[in-house]
Amino acid sequence: MAEAELSRPAGTAEDWTVPQDWAAYSPAEHAMWDRLFARQAAMLPDRVVPEFIAGLDMLRMDKPGIPDFEALSERLMKATGWQVVAVPGLVPDRVFFEHLANRRFVAGRFIRRPDQLDYLEEPDVFHDVFGHVPLLSHPVFADYMQAYGEGGLRADGLGAIDRLARLYWYTVEFGLIRQDSGLKLYGAGIVSSFGESKFALDDASPNRIGFGLERLMRTQYRIDDYQQSYFVIDSFDDLLRQTIETDFAPLYRRLEGQPDLEPETVLPEDHVYTLGTQAYARAKAPGCPLPSEELPHDDRT
Ligand code: PHE
Ligand code: CO
Repeated sequence: MAEAELSRPAGTAEDWTVPQDWAAYSPAEHAMWDRLFARQAAMLPDRVVPEFIAGLDMLRMDKPGIPDFEALSERLMKATGWQVVAVPGLVPDRVFFEHLANRRFVAGRFIRRPDQLDYLEEPDVFHDVFGHVPLLSHPVFADYMQAYGEGGLRADGLGAIDRLARLYWYTVEFGLIRQDSGLKLYGAGIVSSFGESKFALDDASPNRIGFGLERLMRTQYRIDDYQQSYFVIDSFDDLLRQTIETDFAPLYRRLEGQPDLEPETVLPEDHVYTLGTQAYARAKAPGCPLPSEELPHDDRT
């Protein structure tokens, strides 16, 4: 995702893009991609939304090695008009939103080290490309991403980027979706992570709560570990419709008067699919109070 107040590194274009320089990847780097790919390809079939697998197939992403962004963009362009462009690292918010609004997905070029196989905080090419690109081949999700970029430019003018960032986090990065066969993964941060693609669906620790725009924009998130709550959408159509049809400006204003919610908080009005035990998070932070001791929060709504 993006971050403000960065200065543009030498060698980057005005829009912060750089050549991917695909020929410069070493055999070891390609092998790292293959290793990550094989692991997720074995893990995901029953867990991920089928549209993700369809995207992998359509974009021929099972080809060995780190994908060449040009070849990938050519296929993606035919499907939904999106492209993948390389950036050296985090880019400023406005730059990020401008790219999305123009159907360009910005991806890191570097690949993680062997000791970062299971979890890393800074997105690498495996997260960015394996995690995000397959669903960009889905017309409705593709439109959502563009609308998000446009919404970001607008939110910037309204001083509400932090609110909108939570929507990205809990949908694009860590979203779950309800299908007839049960809950499925679609968030890129989950599907590119071996550990979290099990945890998010199977573990008793996290909450799984029905998606609500305002609810989610009040909720803080953690970037250092598995999520304590996941939000479940009904469909990509519903996600797109709700976000496009809602004018966020009054929402942002209303949110200013409300306290933030902790990542693990469950509200009485939530549609709870799973009430998490929070055992995982608690084991890592033994000093924290039990989430049940903080309930209810309904005095705030
Ligand atoms: N409707 C939002 C607004 O009024 C924009 C938006 C659309 C945000 C889609 C996210 C996703 O600003
Ligand atoms: Co990401």
